[in-house]
Amino acid sequence: MIERFSISATGNLRFGEGTFTELAPLLLQRGFERIAFVVSTTFSLTKLFADCLQTLDQVAVTVLPVSGEPSVDSVDAATQIVKEANCDVIVGIGGGSALDTAKAVAVMATQKEGLSVKRFLEGVGDMAPPAERLPLYAVPTTAGTGSEATKNAVISQIGSNGFKKSLRHDAYIPDMVIIDPSLALAVPFSVTAASGLDALTQLLEAYTSVRANPFIDALALPAIGLAGNALPGLLTDKSDSIELRADMAYAAYISGIAIANAGLGYVHGLAGPLGALHSVPHGLVCGSLITPINKAMLKRAESGSIYAEKMQRVAKLWHVGTLEGVIQHLENLNRLAKLPSLGSFGFSLHEIEEIGAKDLKRDAPVILDSKTVTHILQSLL
Ligand SMILES: [Fe+2]
Repeated sequence: MIERFSISATGNLRFGEGTFTELAPLLLQRGFERIAFVVSTTFSLTKLFADCLQTLDQVAVTVLPVSGEPSVDSVDAATQIVKEANCDVIVGIGGGSALDTAKAVAVMATQKEGLSVKRFLEGVGDMAPPAERLPLYAVPTTAGTGSEATKNAVISQIGSNGFKKSLRHDAYIPDMVIIDPSLALAVPFSVTAASGLDALTQLLEAYTSVRANPFIDALALPAIGLAGNALPGLLTDKSDSIELRADMAYAAYISGIAIANAGLGYVHGLAGPLGALHSVPHGLVCGSLITPINKAMLKRAESGSIYAEKMQRVAKLWHVGTLEGVIQHLENLNRLAKLPSLGSFGFSLHEIEEIGAKDLKRDAPVILDSKTVTHILQSLL
């Protein structure tokens, strides 16, 4: 029997090479007069962005460049600027950091003066997140987190008392999403690698989650096929292939829908506290953990379990035949991604042991004991 489930997804999506040029005309058509662009620093310097601003020269524009993952302070500061400019729409352009910042600012700009976003964060705040927000457009330039499709923004405070928590509400899914895969052609190798492995991790975790449902399975499985088959080329000699960039951009978008509706597993469970302790890119943590976590879960999974059967379907799409082949394919992606070790970001053995002892399985299909999780984390130092 199909169990109960519900779906939250994007209202409007424009996908395809060249769709970025539709953004400015769309904003004008909708009658916005004071537009805030929350845009990655890299993209803010491009000709494409300059052309977009040129088209909007008759309306008021505020540009807020974003260079790191959103923090309480950076969101509060950006909100202040947007409130002072009295903006009537927020447009996020960039990777997950820019899109999550845009999402949080769209919410906070409707709140009273001086209220920090921290008050609304899951686990650390004391107030329920408000349903109201400014209109929100999202234009991803990296194929990764899928923030353009999700209902949360992840906000951190780095350090020993740090956290990495979500501002979450069903109402936060962007109103308009424009995915132009050609924007990712300018992304550096390290970002393609880390964000691509984040998207693949999100798809695998949502597809094998205990909260999985047939609607999401139908979207996630083909996207896992696309991402798994596109990444080897994107990480070697086909980084300028628009076909592979489109496959990856689509897969990343689906990964956002998948996690918003089917949950996540150990990798993202661990990525939260790891990312709160030291300033390590989220995609790098996911890319480092996805192989050993799945290897350990497959070792413990009963043959014939839903998880093992689903991973067998993945093996078929990746043309690797067996579950062992899936692990080898993931290991190969890891090698190609050339991810730096977690140790290079300053993690100590003590910190790793503390995180390994926590129950961070989320919706994972197989339970791993803390000794196994700690051992995996130690192997990444
Ligand atoms: Fe992620």
